[in-house]
Amino acid sequence: MKRILVTGGCGFIGTNFIRLLLEERDYEIINLDALTYAGNPENLAEFEGHPRYRFVKGRIEDQDLVGQLMEGVDAVVNFAAESHVDRSIKSAKPFITTNVLGTQVLLDAFRKAGSSGPFVHVSTDEVYGSLTKDAPPFREDDHLLPNSPYSASKASSDLLCRAAWKTFGLPVVITRCSNNYGPYQFPEKLIPLMIINCLQNRKLPIYGDGLNIRDWIYVKDHCRGVLAALEKAKPGAIYNFGGDCELTNLQVVETILEILGKGKELIEFVKDRPGHDRRYAMDSTLAKRELGWSPQEDFDSGIRRTVRWYLDNQDWWQRILSGQYRNYYQEHYGKAL
Ligand code: NAD
Ligand code: DAU
Repeated sequence: MKRILVTGGCGFIGTNFIRLLLEERDYEIINLDALTYAGNPENLAEFEGHPRYRFVKGRIEDQDLVGQLMEGVDAVVNFAAESHVDRSIKSAKPFITTNVLGTQVLLDAFRKAGSSGPFVHVSTDEVYGSLTKDAPPFREDDHLLPNSPYSASKASSDLLCRAAWKTFGLPVVITRCSNNYGPYQFPEKLIPLMIINCLQNRKLPIYGDGLNIRDWIYVKDHCRGVLAALEKAKPGAIYNFGGDCELTNLQVVETILEILGKGKELIEFVKDRPGHDRRYAMDSTLAKRELGWSPQEDFDSGIRRTVRWYLDNQDWWQRILSGQYRNYYQEHYGKAL
């Protein structure tokens, strides 16, 4: 049985990925997560005591801890990151610490332990920068032109992964994905924020003119892509994953309003995000050809499924809004977060 170190498993995508692994594979999983504001120990609470799952609270840039955990690990999937563009604009330092330094600490420990691999580094379409209206979607060999401190830190970590492959021959694989949506997404990101605000009859803040375009992918499709990369990718490979679903932010918000039967008067246009990327779109041809992967969920059903999840799990997001999820850790582990 393979032992996989998954980092950031208590966040949005990591949670969905670990659930997928436990359902569909027999790997042993160690989940290393710092439980920042975005990491929620409740997400995987039902697996506590599971014979193939262990949670460790800690930071990826903690060299001693990571060195210990890496012993006997076969492969790594690195989701841990500071992930929110708006926060990176307010303060870049945590992004450098986790995304850049943390990734290097993981790579060093992986090399020292002599793990067979692969080391899958989960990255983002934002490293490529912004597309003009008619430009073709991003490809893996496009230049990296990140525009926010977040995307610059992710591009830096991608380059450190590439350097580890080139210099030391580490079996590193980089995946770059477009905007995810689905269950367990922290309500600072566009889709959960809009659903929750709508449910509370609060204003829906849209940055700028609302015509920025994102390529939306259902989170389980991304997780299946990462799993395919873990199991099938060649060392040194880079794979784009996209949802083949380009929508303006306004279209996304109007869809949510329609599903919830609310009026457009809730929309409020607010000051634009500085350096706001206009358009992302991914060309996933390589992943389709080499990994046999393709997105399965279309936006129409995926967004309905997502809205349903937030309706059915109001306790989950209410506890986040009130900060109560932090009590869960205290009750279960006997100390405060
Ligand atoms: P998230 O913010 O929901 O979760 C991040 C997780 O990492 C949290 O559980 C947090 O506690 C943990 N973490 C943060 N700093 C840590 C540290 N120093 N040590 C250990 N754990 C730490 O993020 P997400 O949306 O699930 O994104 C996961 C990964 O996927 C990130 O690397 C992100 O760049 C990438 N990604 C996200 C998207 C998206 O649309 N959300 C798209 C493409 C790529
Ligand atoms: O593209 C992949 C990236 O997608 C990931 O790498 C990031 O981790 C993830 O956070 C996400 O980044 P974005 O900046 O695209 O996501 P966000 O949900 O913050 O914003 C999506 C779009 O919606 C963006 O154009 C900004 C806009 N927006 C966002 C918020 C939170 C609004 O108009 N209003 C808002 O309140």
